[in-house]
Amino acid sequence: MDHMLINEGQVRIKVPFFEKVSSRAPVFYNPVMELNRDLSVLAYNQFQSEIDSDLYICDAFGGSGIRGIRYSKEVKGTQNVVINDINPQAVAMARENAAENGLDNITVCEKDANILLRRCKGKFNVVDIDPFGTPAPFIDSAAVNLPRDGLLAVTATDTSALCGTYPEPCLRKYSSKPLKTEYCHETGLRILAGFLSFAFARYQKYLTFKFTHSTEHYLRLYASVRKGAKKTDLNLKEMGYIGHCFSCLNRTIHKEMNPPAGAKCPKCGGRMRVAGPLWCGEIQNSDFISGMIQKVEQIPINQENKAIKLLELCKSEVGTPPTFYDIHAVCSKLKTSAPSLMSVLDLLKEEGYVASPTHFTPTGIKTSAPLEVVETVVKKLVAQKG
Ligand SMILES: C[S@@+](CC[C@H](N)C(=O)[O-])C[C@H]1O[C@@H](n2cnc3c(N)ncnc32)[C@H](O)[C@@H]1O
Ligand SMILES: [Zn+2]
Repeated sequence: MDHMLINEGQVRIKVPFFEKVSSRAPVFYNPVMELNRDLSVLAYNQFQSEIDSDLYICDAFGGSGIRGIRYSKEVKGTQNVVINDINPQAVAMARENAAENGLDNITVCEKDANILLRRCKGKFNVVDIDPFGTPAPFIDSAAVNLPRDGLLAVTATDTSALCGTYPEPCLRKYSSKPLKTEYCHETGLRILAGFLSFAFARYQKYLTFKFTHSTEHYLRLYASVRKGAKKTDLNLKEMGYIGHCFSCLNRTIHKEMNPPAGAKCPKCGGRMRVAGPLWCGEIQNSDFISGMIQKVEQIPINQENKAIKLLELCKSEVGTPPTFYDIHAVCSKLKTSAPSLMSVLDLLKEEGYVASPTHFTPTGIKTSAPLEVVETVVKKLVAQKG
């Protein structure tokens, strides 16, 4: 097998030579995920400083080992990292890479992730799920494994299901209906967040989302784990549905487990389409993300600029509703040209509404203002421009 050496973060990793990233490669490595790994290093450092105790990390889908090896070297307080993969070639390469980097707090193992997580119940306080495609078949095991005060990190690359291109696999895997709207990536992230919350609830555990993002072809969530039946019940009150009218762009939020079946759009009388069940509560945590931004100054990462930009945008989403308007969709409905995004946000804020950009798209408006106010603001700005 031909190899190449990759420098990422503070480690050097050997991976099979490739011209095109493929899940059929003997050992999987995707350079596009460097930002994902950089952000994980920042998130785990932030988590470690919040709990102020040793970390026992499970990299359940290790591939070449790059992720776990980076955690071992770059995350403060890491006592041990278990790097696991079901593929023996990946396991051999992870072992070699751990040794080459001179790290002795790494254990490499070759198991099905579900078996590892069940056998090692309570042994980790960070569980990282980074599989091919859907994480759904592994979440119950992660819920069994993680103790109170643990941290769960999950990647999903099956965005075509979660974001509504193919609704059937979303229902099959996540027991939820997606909807292909302008904000479908946020809906996908919330469907995944809701699915995780229900899975943990079976064990009287509940999740607090610390940082979540939709980048390139994947969704990624970080959530801390707490325990208690009553608090879990309370937490599940954040589950609900989103109603969306494709005729007039109006959307409604239903924070309850009753889907608004057969509902008509209160604004235009059109048909309301429904997405969910999904997580309607917060998916970003301001303190956690601020902590990650501060960590960038202490920890050298290659994707520093991209990481800071993304973190600032995610932080600005705190306190905003679970959907957003797309300025182009609003303007095409109004048949006008588009004013600048910043001018719309500024005017909405002047009028007393919460308004912020979003990391989901550069043309998104996250605001507490109802649709008609957004439209009035857009029309006013277009008229001013003359
Ligand atoms: C997306 S790759 C992991 C990439 C790696 N975390 C990184 O950042 O480079 C998914 C890995 O999961 C492994 N895998 C697939 N099914 C598995 C299972 N049931 N249990 C454990 N590993 C599995 C594959 O062999 C593959 O190496
Ligand atoms: Zn309508």
